[in-house]
Amino acid sequence: MLNLQKLQAVNGLQGQIQVPGDKSITHRALMIGAVAQGTTILRNFATGEDCQTTSKALKDLGVHMEQNQQALIIHGQGFAGLRQPFHTLQMNNSGTTTRLLLGLLAGSNFKARLNGDDSLKRRPMARVSQPLAQLGADITTNQGYLPLVIEGQSLKSTTIQLKVASAQVKSAIILAALQAQGTTKIQELLPTRNHTELMLQQFGANLVTDATNQTITVDSTGTLVGQPINVPGDISSAAFFLVAAAITPHSKITIKNVGLNPTRTKILTVLKQMGARIAITPHTAPGEPRGDVSIQTSHLQPIQLTESDIPALIDELPLLALLAAHADGVSQINGAQELRFKESDRLKTVAQELQKLGVVIQELPDGWIIDGTKKKHIQDVHLDSHGDHRIGMMLIIAALNSDAPLTLNNEAAIAISYPRFLTTLKKLLGARL
Ligand code: S3P
Repeated sequence: MLNLQKLQAVNGLQGQIQVPGDKSITHRALMIGAVAQGTTILRNFATGEDCQTTSKALKDLGVHMEQNQQALIIHGQGFAGLRQPFHTLQMNNSGTTTRLLLGLLAGSNFKARLNGDDSLKRRPMARVSQPLAQLGADITTNQGYLPLVIEGQSLKSTTIQLKVASAQVKSAIILAALQAQGTTKIQELLPTRNHTELMLQQFGANLVTDATNQTITVDSTGTLVGQPINVPGDISSAAFFLVAAAITPHSKITIKNVGLNPTRTKILTVLKQMGARIAITPHTAPGEPRGDVSIQTSHLQPIQLTESDIPALIDELPLLALLAAHADGVSQINGAQELRFKESDRLKTVAQELQKLGVVIQELPDGWIIDGTKKKHIQDVHLDSHGDHRIGMMLIIAALNSDAPLTLNNEAAIAISYPRFLTTLKKLLGARL
């Protein structure tokens, strides 16, 4: 249990920080590096538990990796270099590992069993096993959930219309399509993060995207060759501090080297729309866009968001609810039903935990209504992350501006994406802690 009273932001947040490398990009670099030919050198990669789950699973599949102080070196031997694992592949809490790995293994010549922790066992896998089956994949799930068994097959291309706006599902299909005979066309429901597409193009895949039609065309004719990858800071991790600084009096911070891929930066757009004083300085480096982001305490206006706004800030929605709780009016978020399938049912857990903090928030079937102008009085409050890293970190930020005695249960979940979150937060709050 974490005592949050010690973390009160008396003098605001100040200073300059970096956040860990992007989790989504790290998962992809590990997997694509593993099935490329030759050496992939990965710098500034995410070291949280989810990405460790991916590297452990790849090692269990026979992929050779070594780590020195600055870099992780992956010795890829093509898709054919993957070997049948000796035991069940443990996915722990990681939805991204599970879904992307299914795409990677769909065309193998062996069988593998995947399982996960209690939270992951509640998350839907049919959304990925069904479209993969259209390419010929053989996946037997436990009624749409883990544990599951995948038996590699020879795959055939087809056209796939995605039924959910999910980068994990899209990426799984792309990874399978790289092993299929013929050309696969994937039609997205709404644009989602495109790290898989960008990285595969860098590695030499034959993959073309059409932003107007939201389609991706991919075949197996390209040769994937190992690459150097310098992962930008994770905007989804940076977002906790950006929001913290926006809502906490006397704050002014800069976060260096943050990933600025437009499929991920909606939180910055929304912060601006809400009136946050934010400045972005892009870098000119090749590869994934990146830059420095500065923000100061801001007077915030309410916001209305609908379905098409959701994918580019899907992981930041718990934080958005907190921002809305500090805005001068009533905000409404709709079209966010995907939040029910995350590490916790985030529509429910956000509403439940913010209510404990006195926030006037109503849970809708697909979002929330949040009245930033009203706040209920609170006394002793025991918050809970519900084992969900992003809920845990959002609640720690929420507590910065409260003088009530607060505690947080299940805080260990933070290590899923950001093991050093508290250290960085304390740095911004001042060395006195
Ligand atoms: C991710 C995609 C999103 C996101 C998750 C990471 C990815 O999930 O919420 O944290 O790396 O592809 P969905 O694909 O389920 O939307």
